Order: sequence, then structure tokens, then C-alpha cells
Amino acid sequence: MTPIRRDLLPDSATVDGAGRLSVGGCDVLDLAAEFGTPLFVYDEEHLRARCRQAVAGFPGGVAYATKAFLCGAMAQLAYEEGMDLDVATGGELQIALHAGVPAARLIFHGNNKSPLELQMALDAGVKYVVVDNFDEMDRLEELAAGRPAISVLVRVNPAVEAHTHEYLQTGVADSKFGFALEGGVAAEAVARVRASAVMNFVGVHAHIGSQVYATSSFAKTLEVLAGFAADSRAEELSIGGGLGVAYVGDEQAPSISDWAATVAEAAKSLGVTARITAEPGRSIVASAAVTAYSVGVIKRIDGVRTYVAVDGGMSDNPRPVLYGSGYEAFLARSTDADRELPVRVVGKHCESGDVIVAEAMIPQDTAVGDVLITPVTGAYGHSMGSNYNMVLRPPVVFVRDGAARLVVRRETYADLLARDLSG
Ligand code: LLP
Repeated sequence: MTPIRRDLLPDSATVDGAGRLSVGGCDVLDLAAEFGTPLFVYDEEHLRARCRQAVAGFPGGVAYATKAFLCGAMAQLAYEEGMDLDVATGGELQIALHAGVPAARLIFHGNNKSPLELQMALDAGVKYVVVDNFDEMDRLEELAAGRPAISVLVRVNPAVEAHTHEYLQTGVADSKFGFALEGGVAAEAVARVRASAVMNFVGVHAHIGSQVYATSSFAKTLEVLAGFAADSRAEELSIGGGLGVAYVGDEQAPSISDWAATVAEAAKSLGVTARITAEPGRSIVASAAVTAYSVGVIKRIDGVRTYVAVDGGMSDNPRPVLYGSGYEAFLARSTDADRELPVRVVGKHCESGDVIVAEAMIPQDTAVGDVLITPVTGAYGHSMGSNYNMVLRPPVVFVRDGAARLVVRRETYADLLARDLSG
């Protein structure tokens, strides 16, 4: 198999004469030695470039969906580049506020916001609450009584079938998210907001799913929502996030600019007067990062397969287990080497399903102690990480211009013990 496709690597990735990988001007083997493995390495300029593309593509406004990857440094970066931030829990709200992002730049989401979370959002003074259901409206009415009205978007389920994994679809009729357009439920929701003293109706929001390659699915969403937005006199129409990225060699994805252009064109041809906004997560961060692991075990089972076990696993990247997602693997010391050894890359967790790359091709001379890289791990890896088996969560470094900045430190055994009150 051919070497790793360069465009799956962060923008600043380079390979020296000996084949060693650098990102952001930092040698990845040196980073692995300094910070240990597993390690998330994010190309800061790549992140900034994607934010700028989104800001340029959506002049009506664009929010970074923090669930894809969040830490204080990421929140600051997205804010500095002119994005709003979508937060979907009290925890995401806390991280963004703690990072110094003004509440007026935060959009509060969630299909089951607790009274405490709503109270936090109201106290902070977020830009919008995206209301998802009537029970939430009841809670808001109660909590916000006597306060200045809070601006809201109404989350609508447009029942658009996006072309993606079934678990990642949110726009189909059978969904826990939003008010159905069908049967007049969404219209009833807008009417209730309009009649409310505590909610100020701004517009309509829809999110059809994630890892969507077909930009036509977003044009379709606008087509479905245009009439409703006009009837509701919405000032803003958010198409949510969901743009897909390429993870492996045979995948291609549209750029953020392509996506924005398709959406703008559809809005124009449909005569949409509301400002169009969006909420990308994955497409901002996914290919900005690589994960560096150390190879600990190579087990050859004659006539069956070869297992390569690394020092992380489903606790730092649960996507292969959850969605059957594919990834590539290669060696940091020989980035451009042909990859002719078929292996299964697995983690260190106590279950057979703990797979990082089910069918990987890596160089023949891969050995114990090598630093193995999986690219395109910037989205929904760190953010969906866990402590399964009490494995310590990896650190995150941002690299840029030859300098590495540790933005999340590795978890420690003391962190694990901190919440355990038995002793
Ligand atoms: N807006 C809303 C309301 C969302 O629910 C999401 C993602 C986004 C924006 C951002 O979508 P993105 O641009 O990242 O596709 N864990 C799954 C993805 C779950 C997406 C959940 N919502 C995965 O690893 O593929």
C-alpha cells in the first residue's frame, strides 16, 4: 500500500530527508519523547485557517461546535478567529467562560437542559438558548420570570435524510431533537415563543446530522425550511453543523468554503431573507490533529492476523468501536514508507472490541517501541475520551512555528484518586 495521503495530515505537516514527520515545525518523535504517548498533537495554524474559512463563508455568523473538541485554548482560538461557540452542556459552558469567551458569543444547546444548566446560561447572559422542546420552555418561563427576555432560536426537525451513519443522523422524523416541522409542531413552538414574555424569538435552527459529505443535503434543508422561516419572520436561519471530512485514503470531502458556497447559493435561489448561520465542529478540527501512540506488543498469530497493540485505545478514540469508523496508521519515523504489513491496531483495554484500526496497513519493519500515528483524530476523540480501565487521558499539545504548547496535561493517578472518597 502506498504511503499516507498527505492531505489527511495537518496543513503544516512536513517530512524530512530521513522520513520523520513534523507538524507545526515540531518533530513528532521529539514531541512523543517530551510529552509521552499517547499524545494529541494539534496544528494551531490549521485550526485557525479552518475557523477563518468558516467565518468568511458564513458572513451571517458561524459558531464552532465545541463538542467536537474543547479545551480552554481551543475556545480562545475559535473566539479570536471570530467564531461564536456552540455549547451543549453546563460543562462546555463552564470551559468556554473560564477561557474568557464572552457569554454574548455562546449559543446554548441541548435536548434536555437541566434547570441548573438553564440557570447558568441565563446568569451568564448567553447569546441564544436554542429551545428544543415544550418542557424546556416551561422551565425557561419559570426560571426567567421577571428577568430581561432571553433570545432564542427554535430547533426544528426538518426530517431531511442526510447521507451518513444511522447513529449520526438527527434530522429524520424519528429523532429526540427539536420540534417537528410536520404536523405544525414547530409552528406551535414559534407561536409560544412569540407569545412569551421571557423568550425573544430570533430564528430557526436545524441540524441534520454529522459526517455528511453531500452538500446537497444542506441545500435540501434550506429548501424545506425556507417557507417556514419566512412564515415565522425569522431573522436567522441556522443550518447547524455536520460537514464531513476524509478519514482514510479513498474518501474525499468538500471544503468548508464549498459547503458555504452551496448553502449561500441555495439561500439566494430560494429567496431566503433571514441571515444564514452555521455550526461546524468536525470540519474545523478533525484533520488538524494526529494521535501519536507507542507500539508495545506485536502479536503474530499464524494464519489468522497480526495484532499491533498501542498504549491507548477506545479511551482516547472510541469512534471505531462506536461507529465502525476507519482510520489510517503510519510510522512517525518513516512517514512516506510503503505500508505492506496488514495488521489490526488495538489498544490496551480489557476487551476484544478495543480496536483503533481494524484493517491497517503499516510498514513491514514496524517494531516494538515505534511511534505509530493515526491522523484525522482531532474531532470526537479527545472529547469522547474516557477513563475506562482507569487509563489516564492523554495530553494535548498545540504546535506552531516550531514551538509546542501543552494545553491539556496528561491525567495523573492523583486525578483519578481525587474523586474517590473511600480512603
Ligand atoms: N450543531 C449541533 C446541534 C450538533 O448536534 C452537532 C453535532 C454539531 C453542530 C456539529 O456537528 P459536526 O460539524 O461536528 O458534524 N460523535 C460523533 C458525532 C456526533 C455529532 C453530534 N452533534 C462522531 O464521532 O462522529
